[in-house]
Amino acid sequence: MGIRHHRCGQCLLCWAPLWQLFIFALLISNVIGQIRYSIPEEMKKGSLVGNIAHDLGLDIKRLKSGKARIYTGEGTEYIELSKEKGLLVIKERIDRETLCGQTTPCALDFQIILENPMQFYSITVEITDINDNSPGFKNNEMKFEISETVQIGSKFVLEKAVDIDVGINGLQGYSLSSSDTFTLNPYRIGSSRNVEMVLKKALDREKQERLSLVLTATDGGDPQLSGTMQIVITVLDANDNAPVCTQAEYRTNVKENSLKGTALTTVSASDADEGRHGHIEYTITNEGATELFHVDKENGVVTLMGNLDYEKFRHYEIDVQASDEGGNSDVCKVIIEVLDTNDNPPAINIMSASSRISEDVKPGTVLAMMNIQDPDSNDNGKVHCILDENVYFKITSTSNNFFTLVTDSELDRERSSEYNITVTCSDEGVPSLSSSVTLTLQISDVNDNAPVFERSSYEAYIVENNTPGLSIFTVKARDADWNQNARVSYILEDSSVNGVPVSSYVSVSADSGVIHAVRSFDYEQIKDFHFRVKAQDGGSPPLSSNVTVKILIQDQNDNPPQVLYPVQTGGSVVAEMVPRSADVGYLVTKVVAVDVDSGQNAWLSYKLQKATDRALFEVGLQNGEIRTIRQVTDKDTVKQRLTVIVEDNGQPSRSATVIVNVAVADSFPEVLSEFTDFPHDKEYNDNLTFYLVLALAVVSFLFITCLVVIISVKIYRWRQSRILYHSNLPVIPYYPPRYSDTLGTGTLQHVYNYEVCRTTDSRKSDCKFGGAGSQNVLIMDPSSTGTMQFPLPENTDPGPERQPPSGPVPSPDWRLCGG
Ligand SMILES: *[C@@H]1O[C@H](CO)[C@@H](O)[C@H](O)[C@H]1NC(C)=O
Ligand SMILES: *[C@@H]1O[C@H](CO)[C@@H](O)[C@H](O)[C@H]1NC(C)=O
Repeated sequence: MGIRHHRCGQCLLCWAPLWQLFIFALLISNVIGQIRYSIPEEMKKGSLVGNIAHDLGLDIKRLKSGKARIYTGEGTEYIELSKEKGLLVIKERIDRETLCGQTTPCALDFQIILENPMQFYSITVEITDINDNSPGFKNNEMKFEISETVQIGSKFVLEKAVDIDVGINGLQGYSLSSSDTFTLNPYRIGSSRNVEMVLKKALDREKQERLSLVLTATDGGDPQLSGTMQIVITVLDANDNAPVCTQAEYRTNVKENSLKGTALTTVSASDADEGRHGHIEYTITNEGATELFHVDKENGVVTLMGNLDYEKFRHYEIDVQASDEGGNSDVCKVIIEVLDTNDNPPAINIMSASSRISEDVKPGTVLAMMNIQDPDSNDNGKVHCILDENVYFKITSTSNNFFTLVTDSELDRERSSEYNITVTCSDEGVPSLSSSVTLTLQISDVNDNAPVFERSSYEAYIVENNTPGLSIFTVKARDADWNQNARVSYILEDSSVNGVPVSSYVSVSADSGVIHAVRSFDYEQIKDFHFRVKAQDGGSPPLSSNVTVKILIQDQNDNPPQVLYPVQTGGSVVAEMVPRSADVGYLVTKVVAVDVDSGQNAWLSYKLQKATDRALFEVGLQNGEIRTIRQVTDKDTVKQRLTVIVEDNGQPSRSATVIVNVAVADSFPEVLSEFTDFPHDKEYNDNLTFYLVLALAVVSFLFITCLVVIISVKIYRWRQSRILYHSNLPVIPYYPPRYSDTLGTGTLQHVYNYEVCRTTDSRKSDCKFGGAGSQNVLIMDPSSTGTMQFPLPENTDPGPERQPPSGPVPSPDWRLCGG
């Protein structure tokens, strides 16, 4: 700091008008003189202010004698008087700014008082300013928070700087550190220099968040002094940035069977703003989409909320709005492609199906038409159908999704009358889904099978002398068809046996196949015969087959032996001659007998039953030869009578007796005389006639009784059968309920009772009538097969005491009552 010395004269010149005023004032008071000095502030202690002795024109002595002193009143004594030198010097450092502040000019007024005589002088010391203060700011930093949206031209008042120096040394101006954002706008309010800064370019927090400027205040002193202040500007964020989706489009694929909660994609958006303005929330804006999808508000994860169905929707576009809290937003598009999974089994729709077809349909006949639907796509929706292992049918695909079930081969109801055809359709997905349907098909019958007899031929035996109407046995044919087509009826085929129609021998029951004998057979007349039985079904047209039936008649011991020799004549007596000279073993004669039966029944044996002299003759058991067994003596009577019995070997056996007369004599006249007196059995014949008449009367009576009973029974049965007879089986030939030759079929329709009576001996005509349970009433069982065995007719042995019949003995036979 330099010190300026101001000459008083100079000052007086400067302040001439004031000085004139002072001098005037001094003149009218005790003031002798007025002296002005001008000194700069901040002079060192002891520095010279002015030579007061000289300037007042006072000599040093006077100063001393007058006890010159400075009077300042109450003010601070900055200046002191050096009496020895008569100089005013600085006593205290003077700071103008302290002394006067901003008041100019700044002067110290004081008086120098002298005594003896009392004099005083006013002294004014002007303190001039030096640039000892720099401009300054109260705070060395100033902070601003300015929104980035503030408009250009906005003003921000800055703290003004203070420089307590005055004048040119005071504050002169401001400058701002280089900034293209703000300019300074200094302005004055009164004497104070204020300053503000003006925004000249838009703020952008996102580019520059903080600005640091330096405001410099300068004065005009020399050297120039300055003060600075830091201006810190924080740019406040404004929501001037909208969120921006990271991707314009988010694509994702999801399987249709994905579970709820599956994360699909993550949407993200960024916002350059900060804080609330940069806080993004995500929402789905499409209506309806919120039921299926959900976006996490905070992290943008899009999740599945509902069930997807590829078959309904395959593509979703949803708008996810990303908004900041200031209300700016962007829309991110999310495209969701639904992928098919194999979640639908094929659906089988039967368009038409027949449940019953005839067994004679041709291969390739359509049974059912089906439409298969699988809503899945690609392989998941490709369907093929198969049948369970069923060789008779096949499934063919006519066009897309249409399948027909056709027969693949000939059908046969007799093989299977019902089929359960299971159609299984599967798609080609992995894993494959399938569904199946079962069609039940009934095969209806066609008459394609003829009846088949159980055997290729039949042979049956019947014992002769059977009851007419006896069932011999049963033929049986089966027909594989169904119901009416399988209803078999039996028909006797026309043929003849020994020139007689076969129907007069046998009849066949049409519905049961039971073969009945129509007549009683005689083995001795016919030993066997055959005929054909036809089995015919009830189809239309009917099918038939036939079988040969051979009937073998079995012999019964119904014929006694017949003696051919010796011939038995009624009255005349024939005798064999034995000479008295005959030797032992002499063949007298040979009894010759035959039996029309056969086999054992015809195997004859001969025995001597009675003899005049048993010791003389014997009969050969096998050959019937009568031989002598000892020498004939003279004592032996001429007339020898032998009774020989001929027996067959039947069971029971039948026999015949023959009387052989033997004459033991050497000459014929001798014999003749002996034999003429043979008694004639006149009495016996009379008795016989009587018995015959009696028997005839009894028989006639019984016959009439028998006839009445039978007719009553017949009428009763006939009425019953008329009431009860129902036939629910059509097309069966109907035969009147009696067996008859006249119809020519010989077929028995029903079961009948045959009441028979039996004569045991034709000669006696004993007609026996059995009561209930007697063998004479036969109830024929249609179920019985084969030959019915009957008790053999009683063998009525004529007995040894009876006379041997002349001529062939009539066979016991079966006769119809009244026939
Ligand atoms: C077909 O199915 C039905 C019902 O399940 C059954 O009663 C019948 O016996 C089956 N038929 C065949 C031939 O399997
Ligand atoms: C009996 O059947 C045979 C074949 O078994 C056949 O040749 C014949 O013509 C049939 N007879 C009659 C009369 O139907």
